[in-house]
Amino acid sequence: MVKVHDIAYVRLAAPDLDAQEQFLTDFGMVRAARTASALYMRGTDAHHHLHITEQGPARFVGLGYSLASEDDLAAAAQLPGASAIEQIDEPGGGRRVWLREPNGYRIELVHGIATPAPLPVPPSSMNIGTDRSARVGVAKRLAKGPSHVKRLGHCVLVSPNPRATFDWFHRNLGFLESDIFYAGARDRQVAIFGRVDRGAEFVDHHVILCAGGERAGLNHLGFEVHDVDDLLLGHDHLRRCERYQHVWGIGRHLSGSHVFDYWMDPSQRIHEHWTDTDTLDAAGEPNWHPIEELRSQWGDPAPLTFIKHVSA
Ligand SMILES: [Fe+2]
Repeated sequence: MVKVHDIAYVRLAAPDLDAQEQFLTDFGMVRAARTASALYMRGTDAHHHLHITEQGPARFVGLGYSLASEDDLAAAAQLPGASAIEQIDEPGGGRRVWLREPNGYRIELVHGIATPAPLPVPPSSMNIGTDRSARVGVAKRLAKGPSHVKRLGHCVLVSPNPRATFDWFHRNLGFLESDIFYAGARDRQVAIFGRVDRGAEFVDHHVILCAGGERAGLNHLGFEVHDVDDLLLGHDHLRRCERYQHVWGIGRHLSGSHVFDYWMDPSQRIHEHWTDTDTLDAAGEPNWHPIEELRSQWGDPAPLTFIKHVSA
């Protein structure tokens, strides 16, 4: 087993890279590189890119996960079905091992990709709760425009056997169960939320959700934005563009507790803005819930366009 450090990027394909770049810019990312055949977009955190789109018929290619060390990269090359260590011949460089998860999607385990300086983000402060000292004598004035995407935080993979899919990620990448939802009985598990294992360090409530569905694919990608204002400003911006399909939100989830807002990219892949997640360390047992409990804490219930969505 390798314990991956975090999710790093998604790899998609789309027929029109100009349209994809325009959407991702309006969604709050910044171009890191564009080659003759692919688009690389970054966020404000110090990652070279978090979103790759290759030119071609629309499809979900796979996901990249970062490793903490060269030793972990060497260990990754020993995983069942793994490639040898190879140089990454793409902007940002680095080295990788790749393999396929049970539904055939490509999983890249990477180390040594360039880490550019973070991009500036607007100040974030709220005089709420018992702490009224966060912003003293300063008016809050927000600039209109896209959200500021920080990083990719999680993906949701749909498959006919979500337990088998999750077990693969546990066995090979070290993911730990956070929440398990079941239909009727505990042996009918329909949604398994998992996090990375960084020992005593607190991490996002989930880096993956393995959900049940008739056919395998990607339900959505979850990108962290700066704060709640940033999420709402981005919602306003995307709405004002009048060319993007809003899918679901704004609301606050149960699992992970984050505030969410979902939008469709030009090739019908759901991209989520989220902020304010729960964090967990590696200790503790997963929480079990009947599936009926999987609903928002506030906001509209999920529409079928979201629940049934799969991008293959
Ligand atoms: Fe999500």
